Amino acid sequence: MNKIKTAIVGCGGIALNAHLPAIQSLENVEIVAICDSNPAKLDPFEEKIGYRVEKFTDYKDLLAKIKPDAVHVCTPNYVHSEIASAALLAGADVLCEKPDAMTAVQVEEMKAARDRSGKTLLVMRNNRFLDASDVVRSLIKEGKTGELYTGRCGWIRRRGIPGAGGWFTTKAQSGGGPLIDLGVHFIDLAMHFMGSPKPVAVSGCTYCKFADSTISDSVHSQFGEKVAGGTFDVEDLSIGFIRFADGRSLQIEFSWASNIEEEKNFVELRGEKLGFTICNDQLTVYGEQTGHLTDTKVHVGPNFGHARYIRHFYDVAYNGAEPIYDIEEGINMIRILNAMYESAATGKEVRL
Ligand SMILES: NC(=O)c1ccc[n+]([C@@H]2O[C@H](COP(=O)([O-])OP(=O)(O)OC[C@H]3O[C@@H](n4cnc5c(N)ncnc54)[C@H](O)[C@@H]3O)[C@@H](O)[C@H]2O)c1
Repeated sequence: MNKIKTAIVGCGGIALNAHLPAIQSLENVEIVAICDSNPAKLDPFEEKIGYRVEKFTDYKDLLAKIKPDAVHVCTPNYVHSEIASAALLAGADVLCEKPDAMTAVQVEEMKAARDRSGKTLLVMRNNRFLDASDVVRSLIKEGKTGELYTGRCGWIRRRGIPGAGGWFTTKAQSGGGPLIDLGVHFIDLAMHFMGSPKPVAVSGCTYCKFADSTISDSVHSQFGEKVAGGTFDVEDLSIGFIRFADGRSLQIEFSWASNIEEEKNFVELRGEKLGFTICNDQLTVYGEQTGHLTDTKVHVGPNFGHARYIRHFYDVAYNGAEPIYDIEEGINMIRILNAMYESAATGKEVRL
């Protein structure tokens, strides 16, 4: 059987650290081409692939010349929609990195391209494939949690700003700071467990206090390239509150930098029968047994989720697997995040 011909567009941190090893672990997928607008990225990336591939600095040339079966979009946020849509319309199945795009209109354009092409479009939601997420899905499916009616989620860092001065901290290229960068991971995970409730209103505040800090205590600040004297016009901390149509709710907090004890990411949901926290990928379930309160620590392996999501993408596109994500969820997510920024700017709750 012929291998699936895959191309990677954007040869930076996430392509190298997550996409490349995941693709290399798939027997039926072969990287045939790579593209980066910075030509200096191409040869070192090809070296990591370990064999010669076609190299491009313009994704349009890659699509026209190679006609890949699948494309991984691993570029900065401001070109996700443009590249994903072009690749779909060129006949490729597309796996795009998170966030889906910077605006809901851009995500709608991706959906239109998916619908016109009939191809598969998934956006990265690696945390849905944490081992802990499997356990939580089972608990929910078996009716053990009862209704998950409220909760909190966040990723709070002490000093973990990615690529300060570069695209991550430039609003026109990223869409915002930790709210869009990290919020898309854990607001998504909380809403996924809650059964994709319909958001009706959001309220939020954003702050920026650490744009000049040069300290880092987080491996995650290695993403993106720093640019000395570059732009920093996004928040470094965001808090907020989401109301859903059925009366349920979610509190959020995301920071790249703040004076806290230490970095952690978490989804903490309160169910009628059981509550649970996934904190730094580890799961604890809270309930009652024989008249006593119980805390159950579930032993799950560390798992970044990326490799499983990438395998899932190929299973959906080529083996008929049921997708765990739909682009409508992406439209919903970016509408929430954009409204959160609007609320922070206007000081008012924003109805969706
Ligand atoms: N899922 C996760 O856990 C996770 C983690 C980190 C980053 N990401 C996402 O991955 C994407 C890339 O992030 P990164 O950390 O790898 O950034 P990066 O800056 O390290 O890499 C981006 C690369 O894209 C290239 N590029 C820019 N514009 C391009 C264009 N028009 N065509 C082709 N190449 C272009 C850049 O030259 C750079 O090499 C972002 O959307 C980010 O949000 C996801």
